[in-house]
Amino acid sequence: MSYRRAMSGVQAGNVGAPDAAAIEAAHAIYTPLMLSFYDRLVHGLSNRFAWRCPTERLLDLYRNSLSSRHLEAGVGTGFFIDRADPGVFEQLTLLDINRHCLARSARRLARYQPLLCEANLLAPIAVELEPAVSIGLTYVLHCLPGRMSEKLKAIDHLRPVMSKGAVLFGATILGRGIELNGAARSLLRLYNAKGVFNNLDDDFEALSDGLKRRFEVVEIETKGCVALFWVR
Ligand SMILES: C[S@@+](CC[C@H](N)C(=O)[O-])C[C@H]1O[C@@H](n2cnc3c(N)ncnc32)[C@H](O)[C@@H]1O
Repeated sequence: MSYRRAMSGVQAGNVGAPDAAAIEAAHAIYTPLMLSFYDRLVHGLSNRFAWRCPTERLLDLYRNSLSSRHLEAGVGTGFFIDRADPGVFEQLTLLDINRHCLARSARRLARYQPLLCEANLLAPIAVELEPAVSIGLTYVLHCLPGRMSEKLKAIDHLRPVMSKGAVLFGATILGRGIELNGAARSLLRLYNAKGVFNNLDDDFEALSDGLKRRFEVVEIETKGCVALFWVR
């Protein structure tokens, strides 16, 4: 397993980047303890009872979109790659700002011998990575601080590591313009107050417009509070 680090964006606080404290708050919650129950909390309970998007639906997106040269951005525990289990990868890169996420997902996905990249998606990725044919970006945009136009810079920063014709797919929880049940409303309020989510202004139109400005082919749909997207 090899490890690359490209963290200048957070540490140097580069001009025009969202505030370093907000970036930190959006991922500091992912401690080893929290990651030990993350899958059950988010993919077991919240997807079903709060966000009303079955985890199986997200897994289908992975099963239909993964290539053998994949980069997973904001990998968390490595849940989706592990469960989709495509058998082999020629190249698998796991990118995250949080070392605990990288360590946990690297252990879980050791069978694929992943390359690890510690990087902030809100700054240009300052290490050389092999281009990927598919990129997964699931449940990351709703964490990132800023308006949708600023969050989508994460995709611009991934652009140099996308090979020609590569697909980018994933999902994000919207905070506006969707029907919220009591559980979703409470979780949105709590997570946004803590800075773990920053999505109260995220709506379908802003996401869809931003993706259409960047890609020729855009497929996007909502299921419950979640927007699922696939672009090329
Ligand atoms: C809600 S978790 C989603 C994890 C996984 N994709 C899943 O759906 O289970 C958000 C992930 O994005 C990462 N993350 C948050 N802010 C980031 C940033 N600025 N740059 C890179 N990764 C970030 C977190 O560390 C965490 O792994």
